[in-house]
Amino acid sequence: MRALCWVAAGELGVREVPDPELRNERDVIVRVRRSATSGGDLPLLSGRHPLLRAGDVLGAEFLGEVVEVGPGVRRHGVGDRVVVGASVACGGCWYCRQGRHSCCDNAHADPAGADPDWTRSDAGCFGRPRLAGGFAGGHAEYVRVPYADVSAFRVPDGVDDDRAVFGADAAPSGWLAAELGAVGPGDVVAIWGAGAVGQLTAWAAVRRGATRVLIVDRHEERLQMAERHCDAEPLDYRRDDIAAELRDRSGGRGPDVCVVAVGAPPTRSMADRFGGRHVDRPDALREAVHACRKSGVVVVLGGTAGFVDAFPLGSLTERRLTLHGAGRPDLRDVPMLLDRMARDELRTEHLATHRLPLARGPEGYALFRDRADGCVRAVFTP
Ligand SMILES: NC(=O)c1ccc[n+]([C@@H]2O[C@H](COP(=O)([O-])OP(=O)(O)OC[C@H]3O[C@@H](n4cnc5c(N)ncnc54)[C@H](O)[C@@H]3O)[C@@H](O)[C@H]2O)c1
Ligand SMILES: [Zn+2]
Repeated sequence: MRALCWVAAGELGVREVPDPELRNERDVIVRVRRSATSGGDLPLLSGRHPLLRAGDVLGAEFLGEVVEVGPGVRRHGVGDRVVVGASVACGGCWYCRQGRHSCCDNAHADPAGADPDWTRSDAGCFGRPRLAGGFAGGHAEYVRVPYADVSAFRVPDGVDDDRAVFGADAAPSGWLAAELGAVGPGDVVAIWGAGAVGQLTAWAAVRRGATRVLIVDRHEERLQMAERHCDAEPLDYRRDDIAAELRDRSGGRGPDVCVVAVGAPPTRSMADRFGGRHVDRPDALREAVHACRKSGVVVVLGGTAGFVDAFPLGSLTERRLTLHGAGRPDLRDVPMLLDRMARDELRTEHLATHRLPLARGPEGYALFRDRADGCVRAVFTP
């Protein structure tokens, strides 16, 4: 089959790779109908990565049709149209039983292969071969989906592919951020990063009762989209005094919840980042910690792949902040989000700014990386 593969530092290619096969009785094979780029992919693309090999198939967010079913699968049959959650999870371990699928103990095929000093990523995720369990991703014609009863979800009939695909990763990630922030009625929420994940965090915060949602970025078209579709108030960090605006718009206290949903800086060389001492630039994280009201909550979804320097730990402790990290969504919210899509309460298709055949995957990723032509997500059809 054809798949979009990592080839070398800075190079992607559509290549012929072996068709996936059922390996375990709880697997299904899905024929992909849509797959989307994601901010989490960008650090994997731009340079060397110790856990990427030529031929690794990328893609964490995808949707497709079940074409083969293992004998242990109960909930799915051939022909089902399913969204597959980005996190791979067994459904039965201590973490999964609590709904924390992104921490699943059994979904990493080779936890010893994860770098213990770096991200300590020992859970599973599609399209992060070796780094997160060894699972080929969705930028392909077919994907093997392990634990299919846990990680694949029937798409309601009225929800089309272009909307449903974001039920795999961006929508549950945004919901998780709002939930970790315990966003509730009357809250003021600030979000750094107006990509798909930041925008869907804004949507989730409003649904959970936030009275004001402020979103920070520098891309005008993304900020406008967040305002139009998610009721967020846009702040452009090139123009606005972010600290002052956040204070003014939260009664002088600072936002109750601050969410960092920025992408990893795309222009920095990954040879620097992973070759030697690797230190991320935590500007947004620092701003969020300083801006948050006393005893508020800071949720970090992305933007830091490893270590940070100059983290304002004093501000965090003195001001009694709570810090949450989440690098991947759980699966438990996916059916609820699909249901809201079916009721037209959650609309996501506008995020698919660029629709391309999978054969033009490298071009789609270049648009997405450069945020060219207003690209928020490139969505591929095999
Ligand atoms: N926790 C999860 O479950 C989960 C799931 C998917 C993605 N992510 C992570 O969430 C992040 C966002 O994902 P995305 O797909 O929306 O990414 P994206 O790359 O499309 O968007 C990131 C946005 O952040 C903005 N940004 C960068 N630096 C900033 C700064 N200092 N201040 C304000 N804005 C800044 C960029 O301009 C961009 O618009 C990524 O880091 C990704 O790895 C987390
Ligand atoms: Zn598990």
